[in-house]
Amino acid sequence: MGIIGILRPAILLLAGLAWCSELVAAAGRVDGVFNVKEYGARGDGTTDDTKAFVDAWTAACRARGSPATLLVPAANSFIVGPTRFSGPCASTRITVQVMGTITAPPAGAWRELEYWLMFYQVHGLTVTGGSTGLLDGRGGTWWRKKCKDHADCISRAPTGLVVMNCIDVELSQFHSKDSPQMHIAVSMSSNVNVAQLTITAPWDSPNTDGVHIDRSDHVRVTGSTIGTGDDCVSIGSGTRFVTVDGIVCGPGHGVSVGSLGKKGAAVSVEYIDVRNVQFINTMNGARIKTWQGGKGYAKSISFTDINFTNVEHPVVINQFYVDRHHVPNNMGAVALSNITYTNLSGTSRRKTAVEFDCSESGSCTNIHVNSVAITAADGGGTVARCRNVQGDTSGYVYPKIPCLR
Ligand SMILES: *[C@@H]1O[C@H](CO)[C@@H](O)[C@H](O)[C@H]1NC(C)=O
Ligand SMILES: *[C@@H]1O[C@H](CO)[C@@H](O)[C@H](O)[C@H]1NC(C)=O
Ligand SMILES: *[C@@H]1O[C@H](CO)[C@@H](O)[C@H](O)[C@H]1NC(C)=O
Repeated sequence: MGIIGILRPAILLLAGLAWCSELVAAAGRVDGVFNVKEYGARGDGTTDDTKAFVDAWTAACRARGSPATLLVPAANSFIVGPTRFSGPCASTRITVQVMGTITAPPAGAWRELEYWLMFYQVHGLTVTGGSTGLLDGRGGTWWRKKCKDHADCISRAPTGLVVMNCIDVELSQFHSKDSPQMHIAVSMSSNVNVAQLTITAPWDSPNTDGVHIDRSDHVRVTGSTIGTGDDCVSIGSGTRFVTVDGIVCGPGHGVSVGSLGKKGAAVSVEYIDVRNVQFINTMNGARIKTWQGGKGYAKSISFTDINFTNVEHPVVINQFYVDRHHVPNNMGAVALSNITYTNLSGTSRRKTAVEFDCSESGSCTNIHVNSVAITAADGGGTVARCRNVQGDTSGYVYPKIPCLR
C-alpha cells in the first residue's frame, strides 16, 4: 500500500467535511438564515463570540438580492466586543433576530470606546428581539470605574447601540439594559422606527439616555418603557420630523429637546411631536434646553396628552444652560418658536410646575399652552415662573402662566 493508500480514509473524511460545510453555507443562502452558532459562536457566557458575529453578518450582508436574517438564538449568552456591522449590503434587508442575550465585555477589556454595537450605512435593517432578546451593556463596570475625574470617566464610556448613516431601520421588541453610556443613538439616519423596547438602567447611572437622536429625520419612538439615569429620549441638533408616542418614562430626566447650541454651535430642530407620555418620578418632564451663546433655531415642537406623576420639573424651557468651563463670548440664544403644550396633567414634586426661562434677546416666541392641570404631589398648589417669553394660553390652565396672553 502506497502513501496515498494509507491516507485515503483521511482524504475522504476531509472531502466529506468540506462538502458538509459547503452544505451549511448553502443552507444559509437558501433559507436566508445565518445563525451565529453556525459561524462558531459558543453562547456560553464566557467565550468571546465577536468573530462569529462578524462572520455571520458578512455572510448575511452578501446574500445578494434577497432578505437575510442574522439569528442570535435563544437561551444563549454571547459575549460580543465592540463591533461595527457595516453596509451597504447586497441583501435586500437584514433582520438581526436577537432571541438570546448579547453581553458586552466588562470595562477595561475594550479597544473601541465610542460604541459597543454599531450599524453603519445599512439600508433596510431590522433589529428585533421577539420579547426575549436582551442587550446587556454591563455599564456597572464603567460607572464604578476609577477615572481621573468623574467627567472624564463618563465621556469615555461607549454608547450601547448606534445606528449611523442608515436608512429604513426598525428597532423593536428587545430589552436594552445597563449601557455604559447612552443606550441607543440614532445619528445621521432617516426613516427609523424604534418600537416596543424596554430600556433600563439605575436612576443614578451617569449619561445613560434611553434613545438619543441627532442629525436625523423621520424617526419614531413608540410604545416603549424607558427608565434610566438620564433622558428617556433626547433630541439633538439637525433633527426633523420626530414622533415620540406612547412612552412610559421613569426614572430619568424626561424627554428633552437639547441641550442645543453648545459652544456657540448653530443648530436646527423642527417638527418634533411628543405625545401620550407618562412621566413617573422623573427629574424633568417636557424639557427644552439650550446653551447660552448658541445660534440657530428649534421650532414647531409639540407636547400633547402628557401625564406627570410626582415629577420634579414637569414643564421646562431653559435657555441658560451654561458650561462652567466655557463662558460664551456672545449672549445670543437658539431661537425657540411655535412650541405647543396641549392637555398636560398630573402632579409636580415641587411647587414650580412650569418654568419658561428665556434669554432677554427675545428668542422665545409663539409659545402656546392649551389645557394644563398640574397640582403638587403633596396636595398643595403650584406656580409657573417665566421670563422673556411671548405666547398665549387657551382653555383651563393651572398653574396660571403670568407672562403669556
Ligand atoms: C407650528 O407647529 C406645528 C406642529 O406642532 C405645525 O403643524 C405648524 O405648521 C407650525 N406653524 C408654523 C407657522 O410654523
Ligand atoms: C389628555 O391626556 C390624557 C393622558 O394624559 C388622555 O388620557 C386623555 O384622553 C387626553 N384628553 C383629551 C381630551 O384628549
Ligand atoms: C395622571 O397622573 C395623576 C397623578 O399621578 C393620576 O392621578 C392620574 O390618574 C393620571 N391620569 C391619566 C389620564 O393618566
